[in-house]
Amino acid sequence: MTSKILLLAGDGIGPEIIHEAKLCLLTLKEIFSFPIEIEEALLGGHAIEQTGEPLPADTLSLAQEADAMLLGAVGGPKWDSLNPDKRPEKGLLQLRKHFQLFANLRPAILNQHLTNASSLKSHLVEDLDMLIVRELTGGLYFGEPRGIEKKGNVDFAYNTMKYYEPEIERIARVGFECAQKRNKKLCSVDKANVLEVSQLWRRVVEKIHKDYPDVVLSHMYVDNAAMQLVHKPKQFDVIVTENMFGDILSDCAAMLTGSIGMLPSASLNESEYGLYEPVHGSAPDIAGLNKANPMATVLSLGMLLRYSLKESQAADLIDQAVSDVLAQGYRTVDLYEDNMEILGTKEMGEAIRTSLYSLSEAL
Ligand code: IPM
Ligand code: MG
Repeated sequence: MTSKILLLAGDGIGPEIIHEAKLCLLTLKEIFSFPIEIEEALLGGHAIEQTGEPLPADTLSLAQEADAMLLGAVGGPKWDSLNPDKRPEKGLLQLRKHFQLFANLRPAILNQHLTNASSLKSHLVEDLDMLIVRELTGGLYFGEPRGIEKKGNVDFAYNTMKYYEPEIERIARVGFECAQKRNKKLCSVDKANVLEVSQLWRRVVEKIHKDYPDVVLSHMYVDNAAMQLVHKPKQFDVIVTENMFGDILSDCAAMLTGSIGMLPSASLNESEYGLYEPVHGSAPDIAGLNKANPMATVLSLGMLLRYSLKESQAADLIDQAVSDVLAQGYRTVDLYEDNMEILGTKEMGEAIRTSLYSLSEAL
């Protein structure tokens, strides 16, 4: 059966990095001859320009027909003054909500060749391999009521952090199941010393723990978790946390791996339908300059092949190819180190594809 993959280039560096990932996908298609069809659609700022909507109806119907989606990034200064409801990011949030992509998996793995690129001393991050499981369709991002209003002549604004027990249960299960497949340690991050939402979160996570007795569960306040991530990151195996905390902590964890340009992510629903995207943003300052690092997007394609298409051999090959180009001393500017060869976006994509071909000969 042919799998349909929808590419959403988005804004800023999105089109450049998606283009490289697309060429990698075509290379893998040739190597493994798996049947795939590729479609492309608008999302974010470019979609607003062309259709007036950040998530146009055409994009949504193509997404409905697809088996998985790969996204570049959305947003940019051009749209910064728009109301949150009209911004490019809204398209992405609508997509997450529409498909109930509640489980956001953000691995932070330090590639052995990038130990010196990390912002931390190498002994603290060597062999780092952790996973952040971020709840993606609840909390402050979606809670109602929300708004900006005026009381008399004073402006005020408000958002609501809200979670229903089943929303916590299902993300807790994902956290425990991920931990079971790894080192069986789950740290649930909350702010239970201040927030009622976090108190419920903690109670529900403890209840679900009874179904996973082989996993060691701990709890940590989010401020401490931020500190521990830059203090002793290797203490973590899997972190499970709510939407906003996960957004912040995953950027922090990303930097430990050398560059946010290295981190892929998967956003899945109950039926493992997924949206795959790099953790980084649209980097408008370097858009169109052939400077962006395409590796997080290529690694996101790897996750797509692994989780949604069950093509684990192709997924392994992607991971190996990325590691291979780093071993050969190729870097994009974000990973600059002395004595390494700096490549542009296109050249890095090309190097990954060359490596895919040569690694495939050994299969
Ligand atoms: C992320 C991004 C998004 C988020 C933005 C672009 C809406 O920062 O995926 O981490 O906040 O979830
Ligand atoms: Mg973020």
